[in-house]
Amino acid sequence: MSENPPDKNFSKDSVFQNVNGKMYRPTHRKLIMNEDLNAAGRLFGGRLMEWVDEAAALYCMTEIATRSLVTKKISEVIFNNPAVVGDVLEFLFRVSHVGRSSVTIEAVVMAKAIAAEETERLIVQCDLVFVTLDNMGKPRAHGYKGKTD
Ligand SMILES: CC(C)(COP(=O)(O)OP(=O)(O)OC[C@H]1O[C@@H](n2cnc3c(N)ncnc32)[C@H](O)[C@@H]1OP(=O)(O)O)[C@@H](O)C(=O)NCCC(=O)NCCS
Repeated sequence: MSENPPDKNFSKDSVFQNVNGKMYRPTHRKLIMNEDLNAAGRLFGGRLMEWVDEAAALYCMTEIATRSLVTKKISEVIFNNPAVVGDVLEFLFRVSHVGRSSVTIEAVVMAKAIAAEETERLIVQCDLVFVTLDNMGKPRAHGYKGKTD
């Protein structure tokens, strides 16, 4: 056990995390490997968005308790800071809107501060709209009440 505790921002025990005044649910983490990089030696944005889409869908599926949903929309995506090999990404989500067949999820990905000398960085932030489907592949009411703030 290290005598130097990790940065206080390291949220391994938090159920929710405050990002710019909003509470998000951290769902999982990902270690960036060499195969995730672009030609500039940084995390490839397309790879990151694949992870965001999957993790947000999983979060939404769990919230609504259904497997039958699809991504309808991903909002403007801005890559705020680069991420590199060895960075640990943390994926955080919150429900921002509940419709009849749709749910909107706000996604935030941070590069975690693992060691004391590191600082947390915002990597990307976007909104995703998921739509629940019936057996014919048409939108259906999900009945999810959820809670947004
Ligand atoms: C999901 C799909 C069945 C919805 O069809 P649709 O004709 O848009 O259905 P509707 O117009 O009834 O809209 C369904 C819901 O999506 C919402 N929606 C539709 N277009 C939207 C948009 N541009 N932005 C945000 N929400 C939108 C509607 O508001 C509605 O939500 P609500 O029921 O909560 O009010 C259809 O677009 C589809 O199959 N798309 C492909 C999905 C997919 O395969 N995704 C994986 C990546 S390719």
